[in-house]
Amino acid sequence: VKVKEIIEPADKVYTIAHRGASGYAPENTLPAFQLAAQMKADSIELDVHLTKDLIPVVIHDETVNRTTDGKGYVKNMTLEQLRQLDAGSWFNQDFPMFARDLYIGVTIPTLDEVFDKLGSDINYVIEIKDPPPKYNIEEILNETIKNHHLEKLVAIHSFSAASLKRFHAINPDIPLYQLVWNDYAATRVTQSYLDTVKTYAVGISPNFQGISAAYVAQVKRAGLKIIPYTVNYQLNMDKAYSWGVDGVHTNYPDRFLEVIAVN
Ligand code: G3P
Ligand code: CA
Repeated sequence: VKVKEIIEPADKVYTIAHRGASGYAPENTLPAFQLAAQMKADSIELDVHLTKDLIPVVIHDETVNRTTDGKGYVKNMTLEQLRQLDAGSWFNQDFPMFARDLYIGVTIPTLDEVFDKLGSDINYVIEIKDPPPKYNIEEILNETIKNHHLEKLVAIHSFSAASLKRFHAINPDIPLYQLVWNDYAATRVTQSYLDTVKTYAVGISPNFQGISAAYVAQVKRAGLKIIPYTVNYQLNMDKAYSWGVDGVHTNYPDRFLEVIAVN
């Protein structure tokens, strides 16, 4: 029996601001998240690491070197030490076209701060980065989400299947997405891989560069959602939309909202 390819857009297609509206503002900072909310993105994506004193903070890299004026590993610094760093000026230097004075001196936010400021105005996709085996970051995140009563607005993703499985065991009600690393050749995933992912996650988030219409159809046929990353050009956004993805991660949420509006 020939299975009909699924090419219709999903019922709800999410615009997820990758590290906030990070094309226009310093990634993973409050201005980037607030701009995403102003642009009417559905969700913000943010990366979480633990400080030395086990506070979840929002930063992409394991070191502060690229996105602040400091140097060192996040895990070796206390929150108080991280607080001293300027997490915005690098953006003004690297992206003068979008530079703004208000970015100078912004700090690395804690997850608590992001939740406090954005509240229930937006959905969240939290990435668990480099889960430290020694500490239970999954438990810490679950507690933080519960403290803010944001269980219904949060999804979690990670490249680490082990971390997602640990989170699923702690709280099976929060939707999880398996991040999938794939390079530039469009491939197919195996059914057995998708069956395994389905035991703990509701969907996968592959690199857009490695997917195709057939790939999307295969994932959807398996009963999983698919939200590729990181789709920054409208040419690719058009493709992703027409393939029937459930959303995209993008540094430019305004661009994808335009694509959705004209379709
Ligand atoms: O949105 C997916 C993406 O966040 C995974 O890669 O390196 O940007 O965290 P990265
Ligand atoms: Ca991320």
